[in-house]
Amino acid sequence: MRGIVKQFPGVRALDGVDLDVRAGEVHCLLGQNGAGKSTLIKVLAGAHQPDEGTITFGGESVRLTSPTAAIRLGVSTIYQELDLVDGLSVAENIFLGHEPARMGFVSQGEVRRAARELLTGLGHGEIRPTAEVGRLAPAAKQVVSMARALSYDTRLIVMDEPSAALAHDEVENLFRIIRDLTARGVAVVYISHRLEEIREIGDRVTVLKDGRTVAVGLPAKQTPTSQVVSLMTGRNVEHVFPPRPAPGGHEGRPEILRVEGLSVPGRVRDVSFTVHAGEIVGLAGLVGSGRSEIIEAVYGARRATGRVVVEGVPVRGGSTTRAVRAGMGLAPEERKAQALLLDQSVMRNISLSSLGRYARFGWMDRRREASDAWRQVEDLGIRPPHLERPIKNLSGGNQQKAVLARWLINGRRLLLLDEPTRGVDVGARAELYAVIRKLADEGIGVLLVSSEVPEVLGLADRVLVIREGRVIHESDARDLDEHNVLDMIMEGRPA
Ligand SMILES: Nc1ncnc2c1ncn2[C@@H]1O[C@H](COP(=O)(O)OP(=O)(O)OP(=O)(O)O)[C@@H](O)[C@H]1O
Ligand SMILES: [Mg+2]
Repeated sequence: MRGIVKQFPGVRALDGVDLDVRAGEVHCLLGQNGAGKSTLIKVLAGAHQPDEGTITFGGESVRLTSPTAAIRLGVSTIYQELDLVDGLSVAENIFLGHEPARMGFVSQGEVRRAARELLTGLGHGEIRPTAEVGRLAPAAKQVVSMARALSYDTRLIVMDEPSAALAHDEVENLFRIIRDLTARGVAVVYISHRLEEIREIGDRVTVLKDGRTVAVGLPAKQTPTSQVVSLMTGRNVEHVFPPRPAPGGHEGRPEILRVEGLSVPGRVRDVSFTVHAGEIVGLAGLVGSGRSEIIEAVYGARRATGRVVVEGVPVRGGSTTRAVRAGMGLAPEERKAQALLLDQSVMRNISLSSLGRYARFGWMDRRREASDAWRQVEDLGIRPPHLERPIKNLSGGNQQKAVLARWLINGRRLLLLDEPTRGVDVGARAELYAVIRKLADEGIGVLLVSSEVPEVLGLADRVLVIREGRVIHESDARDLDEHNVLDMIMEGRPA
C-alpha cells in the first residue's frame, strides 16, 4: 500500500500511509487509539475506498472495490467490531455467502461438518456448529470470526485486535494458529495494544501516528518497547502505573464492600473478601474462572447465594436496581454490546448513567453535563475531542474510553470494572490508571477484573487469585509477580 489517503467529514483518518507485507510474515500494525489502523485495514479489505494511493498485491496493481473483491484476491479480515450475525448459527456465520457446495447443492450436513473441522483445527471443537452465535461468550465469538476468515483460501489475513477479548491461554492458542498460517506462507497483519505480544509473535512493525506512517518495517524482536511507545505517542511513557499508598494503609479505613460466602451454582464457590475505602482490589484468573461472575453476582446481575454488604448495609441480591441504589457502578466486560448508544453523541454516552444528577426541577443542567463530560474527554484523552459527534464515528479504543468515562463520573461508592483497558492504547492506559487511582484516593472502593496480569499487579493494592470459581490466594499486590500469578491461575500451584 502506497500513499493511502482516506478523508472522513472533518477527519483525515489516513494521510499518506505506506504498508509492505511479505508472504509468511507477521506484520504488526501499531498506533494509538484513532491513529488510523482500522481505517487502513478496511481499505485493504475493500470496505473503504481510499481517496488517494495505490495497492499492489502479488506484484500486480489492484483496485479493491468491494469486500468480495478483496476476498477473491485472497485477503480475509477479522474486524475489531466482530461482524457476526447473532441470530444465525455458528456454521451459518462461518460460511455466510459461500457455503461449501457439492455438485451445486448446499447440504446443511456438509456445512456443519466443514464448520466443525475448522473449529477443531482452531482448538475449539467444543463450540457447536449449531449453536446460536448471540449466545456465545466473547472469546468464542472471536474463534468463530477466525474460523470464517480461515474458511476462505487466504493469502493475507488481517486481524484487528484479535487478542483483546482473549485471556492468556487463549492468546497462546491464537499464536499457535498464526504460526501454522505463516509456516504455510500466509501473511498476517496483526493489530494489538498489548505490546508484549509484538515481541512474541511479530516479525516486523509498522507504526501509525495521526494517519501517517512514522516507522516502516522495524524488526519486531530487536526494537525496544520504549522506542515503539515513543513512536506511537510522541513522548516517553515511563510510569505507566500511578504510585500506591503504603501496604495495609487501608485497614483502618471504612469498609465499602464485604462479600461473604458468595456462590453462583456451577461457577463460583464460597467466595469471601472485603474492599476498603481508597482500595483497589484486583481479581486475577483465566476467562471462565469465575471472575466476571463474581462481579456480576455482587452487582445483582446474577443469581447467587451469600451476603453482600455495602458500607455496613446488607444488599439483597438479584437486582441491579438495588445494587445501584446501594452505591455500586459496573463497567461491564462487553461494553460495546451492553452499553453503547451508537447514534448518540459522545457527551450523552458519557453522562448516561448520571442523568439524574443533571435533572433539576424538571430541566436538564446541560452546562454541568457538558463540563463533567468534557473533563473526562480531557482526562482520558478521548479523540477527536468533540462532545457532539456521534460515538459510532470514534475509533474502537476511543469508544471504550467514553463508556468507561460514564462509570468514572457517576459518583458511586463502589466501582466494579471488568476489563477496563480492553482496546485502549498504552498512552491512554496510563491516563486511565491515574483516573482510577485518583477516584480511589478520593475514598471510593474499586473491584477490578483484568485478563492482563501485569495490569492487576500494577494497579491493584490487593489481589485475589481465582481458579475454578474459588479464591485460591489473596495477598498484597507487591508480594506477587507475573510469573507466580500465572502459575497459580493456570496450574493451581500455590504461591
Ligand atoms: N466512519 C467514520 N466517520 C468519521 N470518522 C471516522 C470514521 N471511521 C473512523 N473515523 C475517524 O478516523 C480516525 C481513525 O480511526 P481508526 O478507527 O482507524 O483508528 P484506530 O487506529 O483503529 O484506533 P483504535 O486503536 O482505537 O481502534 C479517528 O479519528 C476516527 O474518529
Ligand atoms: Mg481500530
